[in-house]
Amino acid sequence: MASTTTMNLSVGSTSCRSQTGLVGKYNQLGLIKAPSSLKSFSGLKATSSIGIELEMSFLGKESSSLLWASCFPKHKSTQRPRNWLLPQACTFKVAVLGAGGGIGQPLGLLIKMSPLISAIHLYDIANVKGIAADLSHCNTPSEVLDFTGPSELPSCLRGIDVVIIPAGVPRKPGMTRDDLFNINANIVKELVETVADNCPHAFILIISNPVNSTVPIAAEVLKQKGVYNPKKLFGVTTLDVVRANTFVARKKNLKLINVDVPVIGGHAGITILPLLSKTRPSVTFTDEEVQELTVRIQNAGTEVVEAKAGAGSATLSMAYAAARFVESSLRALDGDGDVFECSFVQSELTDLPFFASRVKLGRNGVEAFVGSDLQGLTEYEVKALEALKPELKASIEKGVAFVEKQRAAAATAAST
Ligand SMILES: NC(=O)c1ccc[n+]([C@@H]2O[C@H](COP(=O)([O-])OP(=O)(O)OC[C@H]3O[C@@H](n4cnc5c(N)ncnc54)[C@H](O)[C@@H]3O)[C@@H](O)[C@H]2O)c1
Repeated sequence: MASTTTMNLSVGSTSCRSQTGLVGKYNQLGLIKAPSSLKSFSGLKATSSIGIELEMSFLGKESSSLLWASCFPKHKSTQRPRNWLLPQACTFKVAVLGAGGGIGQPLGLLIKMSPLISAIHLYDIANVKGIAADLSHCNTPSEVLDFTGPSELPSCLRGIDVVIIPAGVPRKPGMTRDDLFNINANIVKELVETVADNCPHAFILIISNPVNSTVPIAAEVLKQKGVYNPKKLFGVTTLDVVRANTFVARKKNLKLINVDVPVIGGHAGITILPLLSKTRPSVTFTDEEVQELTVRIQNAGTEVVEAKAGAGSATLSMAYAAARFVESSLRALDGDGDVFECSFVQSELTDLPFFASRVKLGRNGVEAFVGSDLQGLTEYEVKALEALKPELKASIEKGVAFVEKQRAAAATAAST
């Protein structure tokens, strides 16, 4: 990661900036005048893109006004620029691997609303023909293609810009994310091998748990294939941020759309560390509130698993969070110079080889790390950060060891 810098920024992933990729594109073309308060998906920026598309395509006037108001609270609907309704430039191809599942299906629907996507490739070992047919009837610009089974995976992946992997099994009550390792490790390994062969330059977004191990597995596979680019491999931890934003906004009675809590570390139990002291807008918490919120954010996945009582884990909120990360990736690829997200990536911010933190995304993936988030932590956060390291380290090493063991076994089998 030699050319990736650590930035001491004090910005939030939902902070307002003057242009989105989409807006930037139209500005360059002299076609669009952006409102000054565009924000991001949870946030606002990506919602702006989706809002525009919805406006153009399938929402009636009344609902689009409401949507507009919720996306751009500072702009009354009468103030919208006239030229928002221009045709979109849909440039990017996105593949969802595990598209038939609880996350894959709503994720397909959400990204179908993106004006930046020209094609969505749905892949699963289960038949996704019907899902693709269903989705393809939505009158948004992207075409939807289905691919079923390993023999169709290479053609699914050729020419793809962003690959999202929610394939695998979810948790049942009483299980930890690590309990999924034996099944999901192999699934991720095999899928990433085919990604490496067919679209090695794509952004790869790993959702399959345990993310703390599946991302290192993907990295090792890509290394073995000679195509590893650490800037383009992401563990999707956006759901932790989405949850933190929601719980904090409710607790402190804040306007949800403005709240941004960076969540660092990893994506399992105590490795999930919300930095409440870095919440924007600035807000104070009692020690009890910090303890209660931190534990709730760390256990939010289990909350859903238990409520679903055997029917799976978080799917809808996960699809929402993944769609936000996809939209951020596309805006970065589209040249938006102002995209920040938390993600579990190869990192030098701590002594661990992978670590979730806020990163700046650009055309080539991770452009910088927001190192300032780790400075000036509270005593509680410092202790929690030290406490999470052994577990996170072990999960990372488990992923690396898995690929190494498979490689050694394959070498032995080949030599006998
Ligand atoms: N990163 C996060 O924050 C987060 C949050 C929630 C769930 N998850 C994880 O996401 C994964 C998927 O969860 P879900 O609820 O969608 O599960 P699901 O069982 O509903 O769907 C998984 C899909 O993957 C498919 N699949 C299985 N093996 C495959 C393979 N080799 N190739 C392609 N597709 C394959 C299945 O056919 C199924 O359609 C789980 O591992 C879960 O733990 C991650």
